[in-house]
Amino acid sequence: MKMLIRGGTVVNASGPIAADVLVDGEIIVALCARDSTNSSDWAKSADRVIDATGQLVIPGGIDGHTHMEMPFGGTQSADTFETGTRAAAFGGTTTIIDFAIQSKGSSLRESLDKWHAKADGNCAIDYGFHMAMSDVNKQTLKEMDLLVDEGITSFKLFMAYPGVFYSDDGEILQAMQQAAKNGSTIMMHAENGIAIDVLVAQALERGEVDPRFHGLTRPAILEAEATHRAIQLARVAGAPLYIVHLSATEALQEVAVARDRGQSVFAETCPQYIFLSDEDMAREGFEGSKYVCSPPLRPRSYQPELWRGLRTDDLSVVSTDHCPFCFKDQKELGLDNFSKIPNGLPGVEDRVSLIFQGVDQGEISLARWVDVVSTTPARMFGLFPKKGVIAPSADADIVIFDPNSPRAISVDTHHMNVDYSAYEGMQVKGKVTAVLSRGEVVIEGDKYVGTPGSGRFLARGLNGYLR
Ligand code: URP
Ligand code: ZN
Ligand code: ZN
Repeated sequence: MKMLIRGGTVVNASGPIAADVLVDGEIIVALCARDSTNSSDWAKSADRVIDATGQLVIPGGIDGHTHMEMPFGGTQSADTFETGTRAAAFGGTTTIIDFAIQSKGSSLRESLDKWHAKADGNCAIDYGFHMAMSDVNKQTLKEMDLLVDEGITSFKLFMAYPGVFYSDDGEILQAMQQAAKNGSTIMMHAENGIAIDVLVAQALERGEVDPRFHGLTRPAILEAEATHRAIQLARVAGAPLYIVHLSATEALQEVAVARDRGQSVFAETCPQYIFLSDEDMAREGFEGSKYVCSPPLRPRSYQPELWRGLRTDDLSVVSTDHCPFCFKDQKELGLDNFSKIPNGLPGVEDRVSLIFQGVDQGEISLARWVDVVSTTPARMFGLFPKKGVIAPSADADIVIFDPNSPRAISVDTHHMNVDYSAYEGMQVKGKVTAVLSRGEVVIEGDKYVGTPGSGRFLARGLNGYLR
């Protein structure tokens, strides 16, 4: 199938250009000057011409942090790989990297196989896995090397959730030493879980059970402390470090200091930390539970600093940490006790549009938007240059985005399998009008027109910022 995307403005992380995009099968074969002879010739033989006049043509979004069908807090996140990846496509994301979770006592192999069984043959877009380790020991340290050979080149560790996912400093150091040897990247959930558990128990003893106490018992300073500690451990191990879901300016400061001294430390933030705040967690009644995630939402005053970080590259990536739980029956598990509310927010469908608001509001450039939602995640997670760029030989993962079209985000129109939107009623500028996944049109207007299950597993390479 030959295709031409004509009349649009192609935006890569290097900047915008007026160009037509030639696609043959699954691959981009050329970019031509808009309306050039080459482009017209291609149009004559093309099976399909898509008119992108007045629109942006960007590389498909890469969401490097999702949790589909993830067991958590006695329940499981509400999106399956099928529903979650379709919703991602609607929002302009053509690759997700989900976390296979090792439960205590199982091997990495078993856990990875479980996640393959959930995802393989069910995804609407391409996907890869990180491995989240809950049990660092001699056996699992060895297994890390085997996983790297299979394209699982990043490992998440938790300084939070004692008794569940938590690793202590010694275990973290050993995993980092292993990563330093095998070239993988350690991703860190940086919150001091031991101290947090004390604060949670004390709050519950005082009868403080409402959702807002989730935030009050996870202070920013304990995120900063853990971030600092993780950075020092990575320094000792000589390993690269990627801080996931960074929410606090105090933690960002630690990342900036490390980067300034030349350490390979990277960080992502998420739309919820840029657009929502602790005021949402304090909403009337039990509404605040919709906003319970970890790290928690921070004061609105933190948000300009996150934009600053994205502008200056102290923050390299925006991922969603998509981990949806329905309000009814799932968030409600914590009706009488905030510590029982499953942690996580939906967002895989909203990320590309939400971060575009930063372009509209003058916070970041068009090029930086593409960089943080697609190109840098592709480089960081070993997918570049097949993904993350509109260039010859890259996969034809392409999003056509109308920058002027206004719309309201709502549970009534979203495609995620969850009964609320964290951004309900928010007016955004810009709309995804078409999406190609490896050359196949999967979204056209408001319709999914792809082949269910056609998303492929991506065996990823090593972090492209380290070589
Ligand atoms: O609240 C969150 N972040 N839930 C998902 C699990 C995690 O720690 O990423
Ligand atoms: Zn986490
Ligand atoms: Zn997560």
